[in-house]
Amino acid sequence: MNRHQITLNTRDGQSVVFECATDEDILSAAEQQTILLPSQCHNGSCGACVASVSQGDYDLAPCSPDVLSADAQSHGQVLLCRTHPRSDLHINTPYTYDFIRFERTPERMAEISAIETVAPDTLRIVLNLLADEQHGQAAEFEPGQYMEIAVPDTDAWRAYSLANNTNWDGQLEMVIRLRTGGLFSDYLRHAQAGERLLVRGPQGTFTLQENGLRPRWFIGGGTGVVPLISMLRRMADWGDSHPARLYFAVRHRDELFFTEQLAALQAQLPQLQVKFCVSQPETADTSGAGNVIETLRTDLAQSTTLPDCYVCGSARLVQGVTHVATMLGVPATQLYSERFVAAP
Ligand SMILES: Cc1cc2nc3c(=O)[nH]c(=O)nc-3n(C[C@H](O)[C@H](O)[C@H](O)COP(=O)(O)OP(=O)(O)OC[C@H]3O[C@@H](n4cnc5c(N)ncnc54)[C@H](O)[C@@H]3O)c2cc1C
Ligand code: FES
Repeated sequence: MNRHQITLNTRDGQSVVFECATDEDILSAAEQQTILLPSQCHNGSCGACVASVSQGDYDLAPCSPDVLSADAQSHGQVLLCRTHPRSDLHINTPYTYDFIRFERTPERMAEISAIETVAPDTLRIVLNLLADEQHGQAAEFEPGQYMEIAVPDTDAWRAYSLANNTNWDGQLEMVIRLRTGGLFSDYLRHAQAGERLLVRGPQGTFTLQENGLRPRWFIGGGTGVVPLISMLRRMADWGDSHPARLYFAVRHRDELFFTEQLAALQAQLPQLQVKFCVSQPETADTSGAGNVIETLRTDLAQSTTLPDCYVCGSARLVQGVTHVATMLGVPATQLYSERFVAAP
């Protein structure tokens, strides 16, 4: 079997070199050499491993068009979990070198310290990391990142974004929408404070980018606002002055949560505008913004500066926002997204 040299060039100008056989995908080959690249699903459906080939030949196995359009593919974009080399390759990654790990993602025990309902079928959960010799007590992560939780009595893991900011107390705050028949959802319906869970992370490259003082627009669908709230909390803690907007999209008004926390954030970040976009309001509601994509289309068309857009939620929401933003001139380099896809 032919082996080829893969050179990954990260966004900050650093490189990682490893070998990959023609029958291997690049993500798995890197992992076997303990080069752990950002990824989630390993099956072409989440988009976390997207990169772009600048030199060399390859085969790309089928992947979801929601994640990698035919147009993106024609411009050399690939999903590393679906890419097989046919020659040596040079590949550019959208993330910096510090997002690559050279040791297994840390696993730690955590205890549920709070669990409460914040909207129908939606729980806020706070986990407290137990101190250990290697990691101490702190919960260190970048706002926008997620942790994985092992579903008790199974070998399955589920990913959850963090709502809070990095802290010394080991606290991990999450908001989780319960899914009918869901493996972890079924556990959570009966979970109690004091129960222990195995967690691993932090993971993910969906984080705040420093691009001067360009406005930041955050668009979240349902629990997709969770990592965006973490980013806003970081901005508040740092006294950030970027103009900022949050679009919180739900179908029904009672699905909104953290409204008091958002009001508190607005007190700390006076420049922050919050728009609640309720697509199917039960009663005529003049305060709501309705369909989030249409609201965004109107706002972008009226905006004098093209903002950085951070979008998180279902693949459909991410695709819709990406389409509208691109049509209205927002360059791909100003679009950052995370999809809450189901585990493979
Ligand atoms: C990076 C990342 C971050 C995430 N962060 C959050 C978060 O902050 N809050 C949160 O609530 N969820 C989040 N998710 C989704 C979460 O990981 C699980 O997919 C979800 O909680 C369902 O797990 P489950 O075991 O209960 O259901 P499963 O046993 O995995 O699935 C049960 C059923 O529900 C469907 N389903 C599963 N997940 C979804 C989904 N996201 N949307 C629609 N249908 C689904 C499945 O197709 C299946 O039919 C995130 C996912 C990713 C990849
Ligand atoms: S890890 Fe490659 S698309 Fe999800």
